Amino acid sequence: MKKEIVVVGSINLDLVASSSRIPLPGETVSGSSFRTFPGGKGANQAVAAARLGGAVTILGKLGNDAFGIELRDSLENAGVKTGPVENVADSSGVALINTDAKGENAITVMAGANGHLSPVDIDANVELLRRAGIVLTQLEIPMDTIGHLASFTRQEGIPLMLDPAPAKPLSSALLSCVDWLTPNETETCVLLGRAERNLSQSELEDAATSLLQRGCKNVILKLGARGCYLALADGTRRAVPAHKVTAVDTTAAGDAFNGAFAVAILSGENAVNSAEWACAVAALSVTRHGAQPSMPTPSELERFLEAPSIALKP
Ligand code: ATP
Ligand code: RIB
Repeated sequence: MKKEIVVVGSINLDLVASSSRIPLPGETVSGSSFRTFPGGKGANQAVAAARLGGAVTILGKLGNDAFGIELRDSLENAGVKTGPVENVADSSGVALINTDAKGENAITVMAGANGHLSPVDIDANVELLRRAGIVLTQLEIPMDTIGHLASFTRQEGIPLMLDPAPAKPLSSALLSCVDWLTPNETETCVLLGRAERNLSQSELEDAATSLLQRGCKNVILKLGARGCYLALADGTRRAVPAHKVTAVDTTAAGDAFNGAFAVAILSGENAVNSAEWACAVAALSVTRHGAQPSMPTPSELERFLEAPSIALKP
């Protein structure tokens, strides 16, 4: 039987306004389109993994509203099991997203129901977690829940992948429970207490090594159009380049990467091959609009790898 991927994380509805550029504080710009998409870092990673053939269950919370129905449907249509997802007396999580002509974005997240996922929910789902080959989490649920989850997975020897997004400083106690830490450039700088928010090529190795010294086992720096950089427990240091594509919407590229990496590593692939595959999945995702709708299937990925300069239609 396939080992399960369990995602403990957020489920949001994304309200996306597109304009030629993202407004500055105090400024109004005219938008070119408004659309809604199912999103949320946890749900996106779950959908990414399930579309690629992973056996995925998500533990999260939805509101008692119409968004909650739509968001559960999106997960289930992708093949994600939502049995442990309860509806609570609050609104579902929402993300207000501005995207620009280059595919960049700025996001405001309202936790809503996601804020109700508590340590008690971890305790109520220990059997599910014990069946997991890997557990994926992010920082859009309460920190005490993440801490409790991390202590449990560490105690049980279950591999934990933490996407430290949205960026915030984290304790070494938490990082020492993490098998795969996957920050982007901004998150890396925040974790390391750096004032700047970007890293030059020559700074990658030192940054990744500093994160390893904070206690996590392996680090993968996600670097947008530059690809990613791996620093592994066995001493491997490797930059993996991104595929060259025309990005229309980078929202959830990092989630596509994490979902794909989890599927590959769980299938027995080594970390470098898994990261190369995850870069391909993430590159294809940025050629499409929206979070969950941008996650590819294996056959779409196969076509993309045969002709990576062609952006496939959703
Ligand atoms: P997000 O927060 O938008 O989900 P992120 O900031 O966590 O994403 P990024 O580093 O932007 O993560 O992207 C994750 C991965 O997606 C990168 O490591 C890279 O492989 C791929 N990627 C992102 N942007 C591009 C791009 N413009 N072209 C090709 N690949 C890309
Ligand atoms: O990582 C992308 C996600 O971040 C969006 O789908 C949005 O919901 C925010 O949580």
